[in-house]
Amino acid sequence: MQDALSNRPELPPEIARRRTFAIISHPDAGKTTLTEKFLLFGGAIQMAGQVRAKGEARRTRSDFMQMEKDRGISVSASAMSFDFGRYRFNLVDTPGHSDFSEDTYRTLTAVDAAIMVIDGAKGVESQTRKLFEVCRLRDLPILTFCNKMDRESRETFDIIDEIQENLAIDVTPASWPIGQGAEFIGCYDLLRNRLELMDRADRNRVAETVVLEGLDDPKMAEHIPAHLLAQLREDVEMARELLPPLDVKSVQEGHLSPIWFGSAINSFGVKELMEGIAAYGPEPQPQRAERVVAPEEEKVAGFVFKVQANMDPKHRDRVAFVRLASGHFMRGMKLTHVRAKKQMAVTNPVLFLAADRELAEEAWAGDIIGIPNHGQLRIGDALTEGEALRFTGIPSFAPELLQACRAGDPMKAKHLDKALTQFAEEGAAKVFKPAFGSGFIVGVVGQLQFEVLASRIELEYGLPVRFEPTQFTSARWVSGGKEAVEKFAAANRQHIAHDSDGDVVFLTRLQWDIDRVARDWPDVSLTATKEMM
Ligand code: G4P
Repeated sequence: MQDALSNRPELPPEIARRRTFAIISHPDAGKTTLTEKFLLFGGAIQMAGQVRAKGEARRTRSDFMQMEKDRGISVSASAMSFDFGRYRFNLVDTPGHSDFSEDTYRTLTAVDAAIMVIDGAKGVESQTRKLFEVCRLRDLPILTFCNKMDRESRETFDIIDEIQENLAIDVTPASWPIGQGAEFIGCYDLLRNRLELMDRADRNRVAETVVLEGLDDPKMAEHIPAHLLAQLREDVEMARELLPPLDVKSVQEGHLSPIWFGSAINSFGVKELMEGIAAYGPEPQPQRAERVVAPEEEKVAGFVFKVQANMDPKHRDRVAFVRLASGHFMRGMKLTHVRAKKQMAVTNPVLFLAADRELAEEAWAGDIIGIPNHGQLRIGDALTEGEALRFTGIPSFAPELLQACRAGDPMKAKHLDKALTQFAEEGAAKVFKPAFGSGFIVGVVGQLQFEVLASRIELEYGLPVRFEPTQFTSARWVSGGKEAVEKFAAANRQHIAHDSDGDVVFLTRLQWDIDRVARDWPDVSLTATKEMM
């Protein structure tokens, strides 16, 4: 591990020691298990099993709803802070289900690095690939953890080749596995010339470390059977010849991914990965806004990347998750809510320490704080010490599925308006009010979201609702001069709706509709994304 907390000496040590990252993976690769082990080694929990719901059951639909009901789990999973040695880790959760890709995208705007977890037997899977693409768009550094090495897995070179070819990123081994499946005994730590031996008997015990003088050290033979040792020496020699060496700059620019091999369930390789995050996951990075916001700036600035409602069933509160981009935040500070042009006293900010919410007395650039509020804060909002700053790069995507939403009880239609407005502000769905006719059209990215919404509206507002197909399949935001947009809207009333910010939206049935507008209405343009400001 490097001695300096980061390679930017100008950063105050409290900022330099922060590492804010997310885990990306395909369901079942071991994200939950790894998270739990992080918390265990970070001292945030005492015992494995506190965070985790039971595997398969947790992923079934009914359980997913249960999880939404039991906001406790999602609270702790949204953002977690814990110390690791001299470092403060902020782990931001990416929703696992592919239906929540938009939410995931926004989560990745709040982190400085991603840990990609893959299953050693399965390699790169579809969901990992999608999430990886998003990281790539943002040039996020990616550290890879190849999990489940205690089971039959693919050849190490095959795994590395697959990542390099499939994801077009260079890979460099930080550790090398010794043996396979039942014969797997541990890893050779290529960065520190150490042998790490896995303890199969006690899953929560940290591996035994044997310090060595390199691969030729005679002590190797005391721990590794002869045939595995010969193989290891040959593999490592080949890897050193064929694969790029670890270059911190390439890692931090997102061109090179170091890979660690391990077994999360056996607590094996996890500590080395954490040391890797400390050493190579970068310190809080400058954030994109109208100007670049550097973390060491004295004044506090931050942006909302996620809003979660009804986290505490007793209070109708919402928590806005804010990534601090700069400065040193103190509880009670008055910050400017830039969009609303209002001062906001932040008196009860929340820091998420494992399973508990705790009041955040202070926080630094890189940290994620939760700010309970009554709906004033929306995704994309900036909080500053006065500057009228706008952060950029937090997009809203056009929904891929549209359905009409109707209240089961017409007497309660007003509640529906309120519920849908809330979900729109949370970023859980797009809500459109058609210019023609009544009711609402709700847009989402994945089918499951309709079910989750229906269940939440019933649960949180006591209102059964129905989602029904409409003639429309997609939506585009309309931009152009005010007059041109008004003229366009008047001439296409059956297709026009307004989103929850009051912006004009064109509802489409076919690509043909979009082509027609491009041809007949040169003064307006249709876009599939909109910046959430
Ligand atoms: P996810 O969050 O990425 O979906 O994965 P999760 O951690 O839930 O792990 C998925 C399954 O893989 C779990 O088994 C978990 O115990 C297992 N697993 C995680 N790490 C390892 C590992 O290093 N080696 C092996 N062999 N298995 C691992 P499950 O049967 O679905 O759940 P459970 O019954 O164990 O709770």
